[in-house]
Amino acid sequence: MKAYLDNAATTRLDPEVLEVMLPLMTEQYGNPSSIHSYGRAVRSAIERARKSIAGILNAAPAEIFFTSGGTEADNTAIRSSIETLGLKHAITSRIEHHAVLHTLEHLEKTGQIQLSFVDINDQGEIDLGHLESLLNANPRSLVSLMHGNNEVGNLLDLQVAGDLCEQHNAVFHCDTVQTMGHYRHDLQQLKTQFIVGAAHKFHGPKGVGFLYVRPGLKINPFVHGGAQERNMRGGTENIYGIVGLAKALEIAYRDMDIHRRHIEGLKVRMTEKLLASIEGVKFNGNSGQLEKSLYTVLSVSLPPSDISDMLLFNMDIAGIAVSGGSACSSGTEIGSHVLNELKIDPDRANVRFSFGKYNTEQEVDYAVEILAELYQKERIVI
Ligand SMILES: Cc1ncc(COP(=O)(O)O)c(C=O)c1O
Repeated sequence: MKAYLDNAATTRLDPEVLEVMLPLMTEQYGNPSSIHSYGRAVRSAIERARKSIAGILNAAPAEIFFTSGGTEADNTAIRSSIETLGLKHAITSRIEHHAVLHTLEHLEKTGQIQLSFVDINDQGEIDLGHLESLLNANPRSLVSLMHGNNEVGNLLDLQVAGDLCEQHNAVFHCDTVQTMGHYRHDLQQLKTQFIVGAAHKFHGPKGVGFLYVRPGLKINPFVHGGAQERNMRGGTENIYGIVGLAKALEIAYRDMDIHRRHIEGLKVRMTEKLLASIEGVKFNGNSGQLEKSLYTVLSVSLPPSDISDMLLFNMDIAGIAVSGGSACSSGTEIGSHVLNELKIDPDRANVRFSFGKYNTEQEVDYAVEILAELYQKERIVI
């Protein structure tokens, strides 16, 4: 048996998505910038995709810019807004994805901004009171906080964070890579200036994503070159990727309630089975609380044991694909920056299970069985 439980890393392509992508890899091969019929056919496919995504998110097509994925969308929002809007200060947290963290740290290192980190508690929750005092001291900052944390699944209250940013005239970039396609985003309600998406996190193709830019916010391109994306992102478009992205988001929204129920069921099942079969098991961040974390992510903390180092390897041998991550015990180890910030005991092993619509109860049961067996063996040896 095999179990792919690493859907926060990437997801399997939906066959319905592949079907709409294939013609753009074969007969519809024009360059969308060409004015002949081959080019025009592909151009209209791209614009249909843009319109569809905008409609789903309650935005206008001109507010959607296609990119090579989440990282480029995050980089564009951050680097272009700092450069164009003359912002001198940014606020983020230490548990952001590296697409955000490393970008902001680079801007700080090169003297383009001052960077402040909002406090988080040991559960990984953002201290919104501290965010407010940082904003009081530095109005008109760039605030970059993620919606759903990819390692521990913590969810940010976008309404509260958005209100605070609005009150302080801050520019709010929210990394929505882990929630796009899994939660509904209504851009008429959200107070974010930028949100992002990466198709491969919701059963679309890899290497394509998008950036939403609030109208009225005029920013320079991040990738310079041709006039594609209305001069905002040079380079011949990833045409099959863009068409696949739109289809994947359409399916995600069409089937969201059914899939959410199914996936939540898997997460609850795994939580209960782990608690029943491994003594001392815990959950990192808010991952064990359904309403406060991504329903797709369960970050498990296992009691210290001799098998910790080999855990992921042994699970892989058993056909189970998951992600790991450790808090570091010595200065030389790097470990997971998120788990380190949550001050997790470095002797405990951590496994991130992340679920998707194709997972089954059998896969969940199998993964728990293998994990429990590994721990059981360990106890007998000792
Ligand atoms: C929260 C978050 N932001 C950004 C990214 C980067 O997305 P991509 O791999 O599409 O560049 C990821 C992907 O793991 C992510 O989980």
